[in-house]
Amino acid sequence: MAKIKPSQGAAYARIMGVGGYRPTRVVPNEVILEKIDSSDEWIRSRSGISTRHWASPEETVSAMSVEAAGKAIADSGIRAEQIGAVIVSTVSHFKQTPAIATEIADKLGTGRPAAFDISAGCAGFGYGLTLAKGMVIDGSAEYALVIGVERLSDLTDFEDRSTAFLFGDGAGAVVVGPAKEPAIGPTVWGSEGDKSETIKQTDSWEAYRNGRPEKFPALTQEGQAVFRWAVFEMAKVAQQALDAAGITADELDVFIPHQANMRIIDSMVKTLKLPEHVTVARDVETTGNTSAASIPLAMERLLATGEAKSGDTALVIGFGAGLVYAATVVTLP
Ligand SMILES: CC(C)(COP(=O)(O)OP(=O)(O)OC[C@H]1O[C@@H](n2cnc3c(N)ncnc32)[C@H](O)[C@@H]1OP(=O)(O)O)[C@@H](O)C(=O)NCCC(=O)NCCS
Repeated sequence: MAKIKPSQGAAYARIMGVGGYRPTRVVPNEVILEKIDSSDEWIRSRSGISTRHWASPEETVSAMSVEAAGKAIADSGIRAEQIGAVIVSTVSHFKQTPAIATEIADKLGTGRPAAFDISAGCAGFGYGLTLAKGMVIDGSAEYALVIGVERLSDLTDFEDRSTAFLFGDGAGAVVVGPAKEPAIGPTVWGSEGDKSETIKQTDSWEAYRNGRPEKFPALTQEGQAVFRWAVFEMAKVAQQALDAAGITADELDVFIPHQANMRIIDSMVKTLKLPEHVTVARDVETTGNTSAASIPLAMERLLATGEAKSGDTALVIGFGAGLVYAATVVTLP
């Protein structure tokens, strides 16, 4: 049997830089209320959301990604040509093929990296981060770019009072590269396909093409079932990620859960018994739920405002349609 040379990558991987892009248009609850019977007070108290951003026609999945990724590359101090892989996580790019990652890679001037899209809902960032870490350690990419990007306003039924207020648009990105010591912990991830009906697109593109239904497909969910799953099951996954990294809640500086609902965030903080000193991302208030973009957007904001700082130890957890989830402990760039 011929001997195959082992891969030669870095000993460890780290997040080197982060960038975000929020569309220019800020949409307050009042705009949502034009189409549904609800109130600003109800939306704020049930979800914690007061505003979200909606993308203009020019703020495409590609354009927002290039903005966010450009900032992440600048923040990391590397050149675009050094990037060996571009992973784009999204559920709201409406062209099946080619992957939007190749176009984004080209616009960034990256050369000829591996480039592909993944669909992992609101866990998309964690899935991408895990792949990127593997690539850096394996040596198949010295630097890998992970982008979470969504235009969920395109997938929202503004007349559905159970979802109309939840979603927003935006892009977040990180550069993952070599490290001398562990800076991205083991990922605790998985899927629960038996619950695939709890968050989904109302109808397939095929059904829509065939004229059934006439309404453009949108995201729909069993709000309470998802809420309970997030609160009970995801707190356990978050704890497992802490244990896997050998980090106690006391040692944690920052908690960046998927920005789905403020009540879910509050409940997780309680269940995990996070001490007062832990900074908790609450970006959902002004950004809404941006699915794959939510964690890197929240990370970028915490660092930009000084609420978190470089070198802080952060627990990140994403969860959503699939149902899927991914949690890990990282050192902030
Ligand atoms: C969507 C969500 C905010 C709804 O909150 P909730 O407390 O579960 O609300 P319910 O659906 O149980 O509805 C409670 C009541 O409010 C009403 N209601 C629903 N939407 C409303 C709205 N927009 N405005 C006012 N009332 C509303 C319901 O009709 C119901 O009334 P009833 O008690 O008279 O029947 C919440 O379920 C949620 O956040 N779920 C998880 C969402 C999520 O994170 N999804 C993505 C995961 S990645």
